[in-house]
Formats: sequence, structure tokens, C-alpha cells
Amino acid sequence: MEKKELKTDYLFGSYEELEAADRNLVDASLKATTHSYSPYSHFRVGAAVLLADGTIVQGANQENAAYPSGLCAERTAVFSAQAQYPEQAVKALALVGCNEQGVTAIPAWPCGACRQVILEVEERYHQPIRILVASSKGVYIFHSIKDLLPFCFVDGNMK
Ligand code: THU
Repeated sequence: MEKKELKTDYLFGSYEELEAADRNLVDASLKATTHSYSPYSHFRVGAAVLLADGTIVQGANQENAAYPSGLCAERTAVFSAQAQYPEQAVKALALVGCNEQGVTAIPAWPCGACRQVILEVEERYHQPIRILVASSKGVYIFHSIKDLLPFCFVDGNMK
């Protein structure tokens, strides 16, 4: 057997180092946390999606007493964007999580289901989605959701 390696390139820097468009999207994700409905986890997650025409669509986690019926911030943002502006490609998505003390130091990494949903959107518009994950320590930037979901399953895998 041959040993192989996976390598992921990403950027990490302070909020202040972000370029204006990225900062604006992170700001929108932070604002979106105020729309979180999270009476069970008390963990507020905000997401903001940037569309090709510059529109920003926000999303926040929405919980339910029947836990699996809730939805993560990323999927509320992405599905809302797709439902309202299906002709607009998604260019970027920013995400941030807050506990009772504020923005968490450990990033609110997108869960597996959200990664798969974002992947489908990349496939739909044939372009990568820039992913910004903010924490109190700084912001992680990935070129594509594929950087967070290697060996991913898409329509092409069935051909
Ligand atoms: N959550 C998100 O909104 N996005 C993620 O990627 C991780 C988890 C939410 C779901 C739930 O409302 C709360 O965080 C705790 O799991």
C-alpha cells in the first residue's frame, strides 16, 4: 500500500485583517445570531450568504422541542437564499457561533449535513463558495467547502 496525504490550504487571520467584503459578511453573520431560536442549546449560530449580485441573505439556527426537527444556521441561510434568488450563484458564506459569554473561541465548524448542502450549491452553480468561519481568536477562510469535506459525494460519483 502507498501512503497518501491530504493537504488543506486555508487562511487564518484577525477580523481587522479582513478585506471589506469579507468583513461585511462576517458582520452580517454576527447580526444574524440575534435571530437564532435556540432555547435548548443556548448556542446562537449566525450565517450570512453572499450572492453573485451582492445580496446578502442571513440565517440563524432554529431549534425545536423535537430536536432533529430544528435546522442549523448555514442551512437556513442557504435554503432561504436558494428559495428567494434561485438565479443567483452563491459566492461566499460566513458563520459564527455565540454561547452565553459571546463569540466562541472554538469556531462553530459547519456540521457534516451543512457541508453536504453547501457542496450541492457549489455543484449547482459550478463555482466554489468561499467559507469564512469566525471565532473570538480570528477568522478561518477556505476557498471551497471541498476543503472542509474531502472525498465528497456529488452527482458525478454516480456516473
Ligand atoms: N448549529 C448550527 O447552527 N450550525 C452548525 O454547523 C453546528 C450547530 C446549531 C444547531 C443547534 O441549534 C445548536 O447549534 C447546537 O448544536
